Amino acid sequence: MSVEPSNVPTHVAVIMDGNGRWARARGKQRHAGHRAGVRAVRATVEAAAEHGVRYLTLFAFSSENWRRPEEEVSNLMSLFVEALRREVAELHRNNVRLRFIGALEQLGAGLQKKIAAAVDKTSGNTGLVLNVAVAYGGRWDIARAAQALAAKAAAGEIDARGIDEDAVAARLALGGAPDPDLLVRTGGERRISNFLLWNLAYAELWFTDVLWPDFDEAEFGRALADFAGKQRRYGHTGEQVEAVEC
Ligand code: IPE
Ligand code: IPE
Ligand code: MG
Repeated sequence: MSVEPSNVPTHVAVIMDGNGRWARARGKQRHAGHRAGVRAVRATVEAAAEHGVRYLTLFAFSSENWRRPEEEVSNLMSLFVEALRREVAELHRNNVRLRFIGALEQLGAGLQKKIAAAVDKTSGNTGLVLNVAVAYGGRWDIARAAQALAAKAAAGEIDARGIDEDAVAARLALGGAPDPDLLVRTGGERRISNFLLWNLAYAELWFTDVLWPDFDEAEFGRALADFAGKQRRYGHTGEQVEAVEC
């Protein structure tokens, strides 16, 4: 499905949900679903780059996912290490800049090292920016920004009365990236699950029942086509927006 280039979202955020149900439907362990999910990540990164998306932010592991059974968490962590080992060279060849957001200090030392190496290796790339959210929570993000600003105010470096929306936004994990234009959630649930709470303020929301391991370019195309038909008003009237577009 082709989409008018001007209507392609600059930034797409994805809640990759449904791996466990995908596996269960096949009589497999949940881990098989997570493995299959890595293939869908690969396909989505390629599709995003092809369509001209500039930023892709994937929710891989939430602050709340630490509550899962220990075995599943440890399998997921091993899978992240393996995925980095396998995928980074190809991402680098494709000019993708890899970044990670989340409480990375909560991760094992081996994974942290792999993450740092991947970020460093791809830091000069100029193509798609791929943000992977690991041990990430929207509330964690906002609280951390508040903490950083409070510390600066306490040190006399900034005036607390001058803290505005731009100051908070700049301190969030996504920092200078534009806000997501489109949020995709697979797996049928219609909730945000503590993803980018601040940054999603004006995102278009697109939900699909497709389970994450089955997500492919065709489904991504449907999300982009839906987005292309939206009028983004940001509080204005439709008439005001049309007057500017003419
Ligand atoms: C998403 O799939 C992957 C992670 C949260 C790590 P799930 O594992 O949540 O799959 P379901 O929702 O149980 O099907
Ligand atoms: C959201 O999926 C988190 C990720 C996709 C990483 P969950 O499966 O954890 O969400 P809930 O718990 O059903 O809201
Ligand atoms: Mg889930």
